[in-house]
Amino acid sequence: MNNLLPVALVTGGVRGIGAAIVQALVLRGDKVFIFDCLPVDHPEVLVLKELGVGYCVVNVADGASVQAGFAVLDSWLHNNNFFLQTLINNAGITRDGLAIRMKQQDWDDVIAVNLTGSYACSQQAIKRMLKNQVSYLISISSIVGRIGNPGQVNYAASKAGVNAMTKSLAAEYAGKNILVNAIAPGFIQTAMTAALSESVQQKIKEMIPLKRFGSVQDIAQMVLFLTSGRADYLTGQIIEISGGMF
Ligand code: NAI
Repeated sequence: MNNLLPVALVTGGVRGIGAAIVQALVLRGDKVFIFDCLPVDHPEVLVLKELGVGYCVVNVADGASVQAGFAVLDSWLHNNNFFLQTLINNAGITRDGLAIRMKQQDWDDVIAVNLTGSYACSQQAIKRMLKNQVSYLISISSIVGRIGNPGQVNYAASKAGVNAMTKSLAAEYAGKNILVNAIAPGFIQTAMTAALSESVQQKIKEMIPLKRFGSVQDIAQMVLFLTSGRADYLTGQIIEISGGMF
């Protein structure tokens, strides 16, 4: 990989935690490419493109869309003398509801984006990482993948799948020095948590030993650490960032 510069691909990088990860990587001087389902002319996408970030509209739940996205990424890498070193599987959705009332579509959509989408991107990325000296594959999971959550049977199952996928891929590609980890956030201050009523937010904070929500920066900083070269003996781990919830 002499003379080639490393690139991080971030899925769902336009909003929330993904956007914070993209901005932190760019601030460090890294080259970044985003897959997101928002259109290229979306105002939030235009802001990111001004930072010099590469962009392709990809629905990670659709295998053909993922393949097409990687073809666009390949030419971007080739034209700029870059190589793919890092994948951040961050795109994720919720479709909450009690299990007995949950629509089949809500189960299918959450598994398709959060689990199948993460797998599809991992599979394509790993094929491009096999000859690197070191590569990083990080999935944004959730603590509910370990502890479960009423009303989120689909989401919790998808994130438990991401955790198991992480451990399996870590074992499978350790020999290629592809370091595979997941970050499992607890409650993070985003549009999702801001939409909860004040009293619900208060109740949740009572359950958190640190008595506050985390910030998107808490997650972005862990991504910076994992991809810094200072954590290269770390693989197959689910790193919880939850203010002490267990
Ligand atoms: P968000 O809804 O603010 O942003 C998600 C991003 O992913 C958006 O840019 C959206 O356009 C994109 N996206 C959604 N579906 C997509 C698809 N099919 N293909 C490509 N892009 C798609 O979400 P947030 O809160 O930033 O969450 C990011 C990740 O962190 C998710 O995996 C979520 O499950 C996880 N997480 C979030 C927590 C929170 O408190 N916000 C807590 C624990 C985990």
